[in-house]
Amino acid sequence: MEYDLSKLGIEKDLHYECITTTLSKNGIRNAEAFSLVYLGKGNVHCQIFEGSKTLKNILDTKEYAVNITQDPLVFTYATLDCLGDEYYAEDDGMAIIKDTPSYIIVDVEDIEVKTPEDIPIKSDNNIYLIYGKIRKVVINDESVKAYNRGMSGLIEGLVNLSRYKIVDDAKRQEYMAKLIENQRIIEKVSDKKTKNAMAKLMAEYEKN
Ligand SMILES: Cc1cc2nc3c(=O)[nH]c(=O)nc-3n(C[C@H](O)[C@H](O)[C@H](O)COP(=O)(O)O)c2cc1C
Repeated sequence: MEYDLSKLGIEKDLHYECITTTLSKNGIRNAEAFSLVYLGKGNVHCQIFEGSKTLKNILDTKEYAVNITQDPLVFTYATLDCLGDEYYAEDDGMAIIKDTPSYIIVDVEDIEVKTPEDIPIKSDNNIYLIYGKIRKVVINDESVKAYNRGMSGLIEGLVNLSRYKIVDDAKRQEYMAKLIENQRIIEKVSDKKTKNAMAKLMAEYEKN
């Protein structure tokens, strides 16, 4: 089935930072931040490193929920593994984030195990490519917009441009390194418009 996830601010093949909620075999809830990619025709994809609770729960239960939110505390508490019970609700036998602007429940269809490539860290841990089908989409807030981190990197580069022109060499190298890293991220996660904007910004840095 085709889903129009543009209502959630989600475009096909781009990456969005979301909160993934899962249940263990024993029904213990877990929430963590992970990237989601919509592949079209109801198919979604995420990549999870070996060793996380989320991965174990997904391997055991073959289902998960993706909560679309831009709540800074939900991201932080989920990442620091201290999201309290009051943040959870339940739907369709799944743990979800209470009052989240939107959520997607996913049935896992296929899992591939790979050695990691194209990531900025060295790790011996395998990465699990998880392919699933959307079971259900719920929108609680029509203004929902999934978070794409390309925009954060672009804005940081724009802010630093005026500083880049006036600082010493060591600081310039620091700004350039950040810009190169943000360009790498944008190439991986963002839309054409953001990639185009970043290319223009990079050219401007190179002139100075
Ligand atoms: C915004 C954000 C996005 C993340 N995306 C991923 C991802 O796509 N894949 C991954 O393996 N880890 C990702 N992480 C790191 C995991 O959240 C982290 O490994 C976490 O400790 C796993 O927790 P768990 O053991 O409760 O599942 C991300 C972290 C943040 C803050």
